[in-house]
Amino acid sequence: MLFNLNLLKKQNKMNNLFEIRYSPRALSDKEIDNSIIEDIFAIAGSSPSSFNSQPWRFLILDKSNVLYNKVLSTMSNFNQGWAKNASKLIVTLARNKYEHNGKNYKHSFYDLGQSVAYMTLRALEHGIYIRQMGGFDSEKLTELLNVDSWKCK
Ligand SMILES: Cc1cc2nc3c(=O)[nH]c(=O)nc-3n(C[C@H](O)[C@H](O)[C@H](O)COP(=O)(O)O)c2cc1C
Repeated sequence: MLFNLNLLKKQNKMNNLFEIRYSPRALSDKEIDNSIIEDIFAIAGSSPSSFNSQPWRFLILDKSNVLYNKVLSTMSNFNQGWAKNASKLIVTLARNKYEHNGKNYKHSFYDLGQSVAYMTLRALEHGIYIRQMGGFDSEKLTELLNVDSWKCK
């Protein structure tokens, strides 16, 4: 979803992204510039993580991507109803083990969540809303993507 940044600036509401953030289901499929996507994910990647391991990966899909329909099909019917209107679907993945020592990475979902929070607020600065989703079959999607050592969240 996109909103009118200039209007918000005029109303002086841009100062507090925390207050204007919410999770709309009414979404627009308006195209987003690649430079904006790059900026949002650069910020997501700059968030803190245990041992600075950055245990996240983001799969950014639009309707032209071969994986788009497969990803959509792992969602509950209700979630498919609103998610199919979004201009991007983002699959988030977290690493199971630390790269440097192979031990279980018990903080990886925590780290991923924090990164998504960064992403969400940076997107909002660009006038883009993100709605997160747990209502999909995480096991099925992880299997479908065939990603060893990673889990879709
Ligand atoms: C981990 C997580 C899972 C969520 N799963 C869903 C979901 O499956 N479907 C949905 O419509 N919203 C989902 N949401 C969005 C929440 O319902 C929403 O953030 C919450 O109601 C608070 O509303 P707000 O974000 O507008 O403040 C999820 C949010 C999070 C953080």
